[in-house]
Amino acid sequence: MRLKDKVAIITGAGLGMGREASVVFAQEGAKVIVFDLNADAGKETVRLVEAAGGKALFVQGDVSKEADVQKAIAEGVKAFGALHILYANAGVLWKDRDKSVIETTEENWDLVQAINLKGPFFLTKHGIPELRKAGGGSIILVGSISALAGFTLAQDSYTCAKGALISLCKSLAIQFAPEQIRCNIIHPGFIDTPLQAPYLNDDKRKAISAEIPIRRLGTARDIANAALFLASDESSWMTGAEMVVDGGFLAM
Ligand SMILES: NC(=O)c1ccc[n+]([C@@H]2O[C@H](COP(=O)([O-])OP(=O)(O)OC[C@H]3O[C@@H](n4cnc5c(N)ncnc54)[C@H](O)[C@@H]3O)[C@@H](O)[C@H]2O)c1
Repeated sequence: MRLKDKVAIITGAGLGMGREASVVFAQEGAKVIVFDLNADAGKETVRLVEAAGGKALFVQGDVSKEADVQKAIAEGVKAFGALHILYANAGVLWKDRDKSVIETTEENWDLVQAINLKGPFFLTKHGIPELRKAGGGSIILVGSISALAGFTLAQDSYTCAKGALISLCKSLAIQFAPEQIRCNIIHPGFIDTPLQAPYLNDDKRKAISAEIPIRRLGTARDIANAALFLASDESSWMTGAEMVVDGGFLAM
């Protein structure tokens, strides 16, 4: 029960890492506000949390819309009484529209920024006042190994949004540390989730696995476990830190 009596909001909790974290956090005692654009997926996450003996509330919304994020926080606090953990997990990777700067339209650049960067802005803007009321808390941002190294197949808007989150992480960590509000960022490597599914087949999975020292793609559980540590008091002296979870890919 590493998150006993804690309340967490997880954006993009309908699928992939967000769904997995919802179940893991709830099994460790947290009540979870499941926020997602996709209502069917979000409701299924709540069903899985409840099947695992946990408590969750689904709120539908778009992280790039401030009113939606504000509403989710208000509804969650009303239902569960407080808020301690902000997990800014929602993000999109659109390899067909977000490419190198020389091939990407302004509209597609802006859409990716709105979800991947403005989303965490809205979540922290409206979530931090609730963490203050609770006497402290943990903020988890999600970057990417693509913010730490260049890749020949570029998704430049995605990469820039993830890179900017590193700066936001450090800024929030320093501003709010005296109030016991911590902020850390996880950089996942190649994780086998619905986000990557359109770009993967068995041959690609084998080829990517061969490039990873641990010789497999990551799972949603690998990242949820890292997030659980950052959400819990076990990481209470850790803030402003970057946690790379990539099977050793960037160590090469
Ligand atoms: N999968 C990877 O290899 C990988 C690698 C590095 C970083 N990441 C990052 O990890 C995070 C989670 O990725 P994932 O692989 O679990 O993704 P996913 O696509 O499997 O799940 C993302 C969830 O976010 C929701 N979502 C998308 N846009 C939204 C919006 N505007 N508002 C609310 N919800 C929205 C989707 O409906 C979905 O349920 C993302 O920030 C992603 O960029 C993923």
